[in-house]
Amino acid sequence: MTQIPVFDATSPSDLNRALAEIEKALDNASPVLDEPVETEPSTSDTLDVETPPDFNIPAFSQLIGIRTEVYDQIRNALKSGKRHLMFYGPPGTGKTSLAELVAGHLYNSHRMVTGSSDWSSQDIIGGYQPAGDGSIRFSKGILLEHFDKPLIIDELNRCDIDRVLGPLFTVLSGQPTTLPYLRNPADENSERFVILPAAKANAKQHEFAPTQNWRLLATLNSIDKASLYQMSYALTRRFAWILVDAPEDLNQFVRDFGALKGYWSEEPPESAKSPIADIWSIVNDIRPMGAAPFIDVMAYCKAAAPDFNFFVGAEGESKSIYLSAFQVSILPMLDGVAHEQANRIAVNISNVLGLTTDSKEAKELTRKLLSLAL
Ligand SMILES: Nc1ncnc2c1ncn2[C@@H]1O[C@H](COP(=O)(O)OP(=O)(O)OP(=O)(O)O)[C@@H](O)[C@H]1O
Ligand SMILES: [Mg+2]
Repeated sequence: MTQIPVFDATSPSDLNRALAEIEKALDNASPVLDEPVETEPSTSDTLDVETPPDFNIPAFSQLIGIRTEVYDQIRNALKSGKRHLMFYGPPGTGKTSLAELVAGHLYNSHRMVTGSSDWSSQDIIGGYQPAGDGSIRFSKGILLEHFDKPLIIDELNRCDIDRVLGPLFTVLSGQPTTLPYLRNPADENSERFVILPAAKANAKQHEFAPTQNWRLLATLNSIDKASLYQMSYALTRRFAWILVDAPEDLNQFVRDFGALKGYWSEEPPESAKSPIADIWSIVNDIRPMGAAPFIDVMAYCKAAAPDFNFFVGAEGESKSIYLSAFQVSILPMLDGVAHEQANRIAVNISNVLGLTTDSKEAKELTRKLLSLAL
């Protein structure tokens, strides 16, 4: 028969004995009190010893003109122990492609999500969701859901960075953080979910932790300068910042990319210059841009005239093809340039294409550029 313990609450030793008994009773009762929720524990009972990834990231052949310092910085940052990488730079420089290739080189699988302005903490970390039977339960958000592989957050600048990464801040800085969600929302005494900074053996059901394979690779379009400054210094420090700029030698890019795509049967002469590189350079002086829109220009020219030659000066029909390609792929990206800049671009491009200032085409080009200018 179980004896009912009697305590004298006025005696300190009895009081301590009572507290110890209550604690023991609660310990025994907790498995019964906690209805298991349908969230998987984040770690296994025994920690897997994962083989360390190969940090010797190669120069990826499908990306042309990525500066060698970019690869050096990625390799050295990873080797020095930086876990998280931020790829930033002008639009279309290959940031997303590079993040995916790096993640693919490091691990067998990764996940990519694209930032959105309406992301909330619920989307990122998680929150209560109706369970279907009238009750509610905690449901993991994107980050907790992918704590076992690298997560690429593409276009981080599209969301409120602090709101998105803020809840992870303590984890990024090596501290555990307790979430305001109960394992069993119907029972105020059940444990709150906790995010641990690293996996541990025998993690409990309410403890989430990133595995060794977890790291963040984010991309940020630096044309949106304000978003660069949106991050607190403390958060900034958790990332290695890799600037992915436009290729250094634009003419060489056109040459290498055209060769890769099989755009010509005969190699252009060594000294040949492409008007595309000149136009790109004019644009870059005002608003730096990566390869992507100029890849589109090349594809446009090729579609308009299958034997289009990128390495001769613009003449005849090719002038109007270049102008159309510019209008389709580059013009929209110049939205909001200053009046004086729009005029400068128009004059310089007219020069490259051999258009006289009073020609119909040059006037049209100026008019279209000015219509986007502020
Ligand atoms: N340096 C490059 N060499 C070859 N292809 C490239 C290069 N840069 C971009 N591309 C191609 O252009 C397209 C867009 O590239 P990607 O999305 O990776 O650029 P991004 O920098 O992420 O652009 P955004 O700033 O718009 O997010 C892809 O198809 C990619 O393969
Ligand atoms: Mg991108």
